[in-house]
Amino acid sequence: MTQLVDLRSDTVTRPTLQMRTAMANAEVGDDGYGEDPTVLALEEHYAALVGKEAALFVPSGVMANQIAIRVHTVPGDGVLAGKHSHVVLYELGAAAKNAGVQFFLVDDDDGLLSPAAITEVLAGHSRHLPSVDLLCIENTAMAAGGTTWPLERLSEVAQAVNGRPIHLDGARLFNAHVATGHSLAQLAAPADSVMSCLSKGLGAPVGSVLAGSRAFIDAAKDERKRLGGSMRQAGILAAAGLVGLESGIARLADDHERARRLAEAIADAWPSAGVSPLAVETNVVVATVANDAEVIEALGAQGVLCGAIAPQRIRFVTHLDVDDAGIDHAISVIRSLKVTS
Ligand SMILES: Cc1ncc(COP(=O)(O)O)c(C=O)c1O
Repeated sequence: MTQLVDLRSDTVTRPTLQMRTAMANAEVGDDGYGEDPTVLALEEHYAALVGKEAALFVPSGVMANQIAIRVHTVPGDGVLAGKHSHVVLYELGAAAKNAGVQFFLVDDDDGLLSPAAITEVLAGHSRHLPSVDLLCIENTAMAAGGTTWPLERLSEVAQAVNGRPIHLDGARLFNAHVATGHSLAQLAAPADSVMSCLSKGLGAPVGSVLAGSRAFIDAAKDERKRLGGSMRQAGILAAAGLVGLESGIARLADDHERARRLAEAIADAWPSAGVSPLAVETNVVVATVANDAEVIEALGAQGVLCGAIAPQRIRFVTHLDVDDAGIDHAISVIRSLKVTS
């Protein structure tokens, strides 16, 4: 039988035995009434980790981002964000539909936004142009290949927006923390709100957490309800997230090491694919290949699953359910394939 290595996303993991046990034994209540002790414990734990007053458990990362945008803006507001960010490209236009906002896009090829580009957009504002009322940033920056933000750049960007609120899409903030050694609170400090996914590198089956000031979270709770994301005995899900927070963060270093190994092999086998192993800081490797559909199919036929994130851009993501043997198999299949540039 062909060995299967699923590198499409870190969302494909299945809950560990420890998670399933915690889920089965979770103390629960009706979270609609704020009475689920496990959800409350998860929210408190995350808020403390990211240095914010309060947090909210929500069903998905997209919903966390959407809630944040709705709380920070009113319809007609402008939102500054990177051209390739998740809120712009990968949420099916949700911010336009759910919040009625307009995006101002700035370059983010290296995963970072430049303070100068932000200042330029803000300077263009006049009474004929929509105002800019929110900045969204992403750390790690998925489309750039899971890159991290230096702390200095975070604070420069925060200065550039001059008091406007900042929402941090930290779907993979735990990876940024492990890769840089900066605390989660340091990484989240410039942001007014921050969200992280429990169902990616940490391996939980469902859920994300959104944090901010107490007033922000009170408003976020209303928006969660409006979007249909209020849950009941959600402690069953939160229990798995808590296991992830308590024992899954340090392990991400293994995923990073495996991604680096994969990147080295890709750079060697497919020199035209633009993969620079030293630039692979976390668990995502993005390669540029002209024959993307063909390559994805050929890899899949030999048990190596990956996906396209844009035309000619294929992505490999390491995670809890991929071990060294899986990476060895992926490398040998990659070496056997030709790509075109
Ligand atoms: C950077 C980023 N933000 C947000 C999300 C959305 O998370 P979810 O799939 O839980 O809605 C993802 C998911 O892949 C992501 O990569």
